[in-house]
Amino acid sequence: MDYLKINQASSLKGSIQISGAKNSSLPLIALSILSNSSVKISNVPNVVDIKTLLRLLEMLGASYEFDNNILNIDSSTIHSTKATYDIVKTMRASVLTLGPLLARFKKAIVSLPGGCAIGERPIDLHLKALKALGVDIDLKAGYIEASVKSNLKGATIIFDKITVTGTENIVMAASMADGKTRIINCAREPEVEQLCQVLKKSGVDISGIGTSELSIYGTGGESISICDSEVIPDRIEAFTYLCAGAITNSEITLDKISPTHLSSSVSKLEEMGFGFTYLKDAMTIHPAKRILPIELTTTEYPGFPTDAQAQIMVLMSQADGTSIIEEKLFENRFMHVSELKRLGANIHLKGSTATIEGNQKLIGTDVMATDLRASSALVLAGLVASGTTNVHRIYHLDRGYENLEGKFSKLNVNIERLKEGL
Ligand code: UD1
Repeated sequence: MDYLKINQASSLKGSIQISGAKNSSLPLIALSILSNSSVKISNVPNVVDIKTLLRLLEMLGASYEFDNNILNIDSSTIHSTKATYDIVKTMRASVLTLGPLLARFKKAIVSLPGGCAIGERPIDLHLKALKALGVDIDLKAGYIEASVKSNLKGATIIFDKITVTGTENIVMAASMADGKTRIINCAREPEVEQLCQVLKKSGVDISGIGTSELSIYGTGGESISICDSEVIPDRIEAFTYLCAGAITNSEITLDKISPTHLSSSVSKLEEMGFGFTYLKDAMTIHPAKRILPIELTTTEYPGFPTDAQAQIMVLMSQADGTSIIEEKLFENRFMHVSELKRLGANIHLKGSTATIEGNQKLIGTDVMATDLRASSALVLAGLVASGTTNVHRIYHLDRGYENLEGKFSKLNVNIERLKEGL
């Protein structure tokens, strides 16, 4: 197992390129299940979650080549429709195979994802929506056994709660259904939007893209020739590096970003006193005269993302005053707090609210990553903690950050990946 050793950084400088979004690549890869031919997806980040989904599709019968962030995947050869527990338990997003498998094969057996570090995370809304499309669902021995007698039938679906992968699953399923599906109160995340844009470019009649109501006219069981696509920039990775610039009050530049996707999170950094300049698809963060405390609530897009909450919390510990975060999306997404406290942060939790005292002097020590974004928050803390911080269990981090230590090294950070026990 690897860990990261980070030395306190005085100032960061330079520029790095942001990778493609993991959360956009995953549904685009799952979408290949609907395709009657090979699909090319470029700008796919080389991270563990992507490899996990590719391994799953390979087990089902697909073949692929993944090199230099370009993926060529042929899922037309898929013959099995069972996603087993050993893969699904390592990555919840494997559930994204459920909708497309059902659309193409009219049956699928997908393991229930089970518990998760950041909360209960049920998939009841995915299943309720699939039932509305005519799917029979049985939950047996930890598996979802889903089948439909003929084609899926278009329907009106009103999500009780906004769900990102739930929306993506139903968008993919509805694309091959009979007739029209309306999805009301759907997710508007850029990753959902990209999935819909790719479907539209592939010939599917889909409207309302980027809004909270989608209408999809299915192909009536015909497979789709999915067009080539280029994955959008990873807005969460970009925000993590912006926080790195901010916490060290440095000037750094990020290349290959999509500024609109970062609006809500960047506006919070502006409120904290940081400045930004933009050039085409690059942005530079400029130091703050004084880092101001702020209050924020995590919400669905276009609000402040829950996936950026842990990172901004670390920055708040260096603000000149007390900040507050209300976590609205996941009930247990404060696991990083106890590790941040070990570094010297002063954070109080009450229900879904965290109160973060500013002006905290952090002291480097050994800390343990608990989930993907919590891991990057600990790395950020390591940039300002005196001495050395060792972040253990970085397999969480490897799920979603491509070449993190390489990118930080390029920004003048003394960071090393080492093997435990050596
Ligand atoms: C996706 C992202 C994840 C991000 C999350 C919220 C991917 C691969 N993952 O996860 O990084 O943190 O969106 O932005 O894109 N819910 C239910 N029933 C369901 C589905 C969801 O109650 O059937 C609840 C969840 O517990 C949570 C909320 O709805 O409280 C939002 O979850 P959802 O948007 O579904 O998250 P994911 O799609 O799993």
